[in-house]
Amino acid sequence: MKPKIYITRKMDERIVAPLQEKFDVRMWESESEPVPRDVLLKEVADAEALWTVISDQVDHEIIEAGKKLKIIANMAVGYNNIDIAAAKEHDVVVTNTPDVLTETTADLTFALLLSTARQLTFAESELRKGNWTSWSPMGYTGMDVGGATIGIIGMGRIGEAVARRAKGFNMDVLYHNRNRKHEAEAAHGFEYRELDALLKEADFVVLLTPYTKETAGLIGSRELALMKKTAVLINVSRGGIVDEAALYTALKENTIWAAGLDVFETEPVPLENPLLSLPNVTVLPHIGSASIKTRLAMMELNAQAIMDVLEERAPKNQVE
Ligand code: GLV
Ligand code: GLV
Repeated sequence: MKPKIYITRKMDERIVAPLQEKFDVRMWESESEPVPRDVLLKEVADAEALWTVISDQVDHEIIEAGKKLKIIANMAVGYNNIDIAAAKEHDVVVTNTPDVLTETTADLTFALLLSTARQLTFAESELRKGNWTSWSPMGYTGMDVGGATIGIIGMGRIGEAVARRAKGFNMDVLYHNRNRKHEAEAAHGFEYRELDALLKEADFVVLLTPYTKETAGLIGSRELALMKKTAVLINVSRGGIVDEAALYTALKENTIWAAGLDVFETEPVPLENPLLSLPNVTVLPHIGSASIKTRLAMMELNAQAIMDVLEERAPKNQVE
C-alpha cells in the first residue's frame, strides 16, 4: 500500500501531481471551506503526511490520532496553529514555508501601511457610495509616510524586508527584536530600541513577530498609551499579539490615530467585531503572502518537504 498524504485544502494540480505518482494523495476538495474537524480526525488516522494551512488547528488530539504520521507540512511561515510539543512527543516532523513569502509579505505590509496612513480604502468606499461630491480642503487627509519614523517589532526576514522598503521612503527605521541585528544596523542604519522607547518614538508601529507565549497580548492598553496620538499601528503577523479590546478603546478615543490589520484574534473576523465599526481601521482578510507566484512557491515547498520525509531525507524547513 502506498503511503497516504492528506491535504486539508484544494491545491494546484500541477504541484500535487508528482506526489500522486508515488503516494496515495487525498485532498479536501474545497478551496475556500476548511476541512471539518471530524473529517480531519478520520483522515489523519492512516496518513503518513499531513499538509495543513493556518486555519487548521492541529492540536494534541489530531496528532495523537495520526498513528502513522511522520510529517505535518504547514503552508505558512507561522506555525502557532500546530501543537509543536505534541508533534515532538510523537516524533512528527513539522515544516513551514519561510523565505519564499518574505518580499511578498513585506509588499503587503507596506501597502497596508500606506493605505492606512492615507485612508485609501475609506476614500474609495466613499467614492463608490457617491459621497465624493466636491474637492474638500481637509477631506480624506491622512498622515505622511515619507520621512516619518517606522518602528518594527520583530526584525526577522520580513521585518528586514519592510525596513528596506522604509529606507526607500526616506524613513528613520527603529526596531525591537529578541536579538540585536548588528549587521543590519551597520549596513542600513537601522536603530535598536527597547519596546517602550520604540512605541513612544515611532509614527508607524509595525508588528511582525511570531505568535508565541511571549508575544501573546504584547500590545495592550499600557503599550497603546505609550504611542503617539498621531501614530498608526500595523499588524500583519497574528491577531493575538494585540489586545483587540484595548485597541478598540484606543482607536475610539483617538489616543492613537489609526490601525491597519491583516490579522485578527478570531479569523475569519466576525462582522460583529467592534473594530470593523471604526472609520480609522483599515482591514484585510489575512493576505500577507497572497501573490500568485508566492502561494505556488509555498505549495512547492510543502510538496517537497513531504516528499523528503516520506523518502527519508531531511526536509529543508523543519521548525524548532
Ligand atoms: C501567514 O500568516 C503565514 O504565517 O505564512
Ligand atoms: C519570520 O520567520 C520572518 O521571516 O520574518
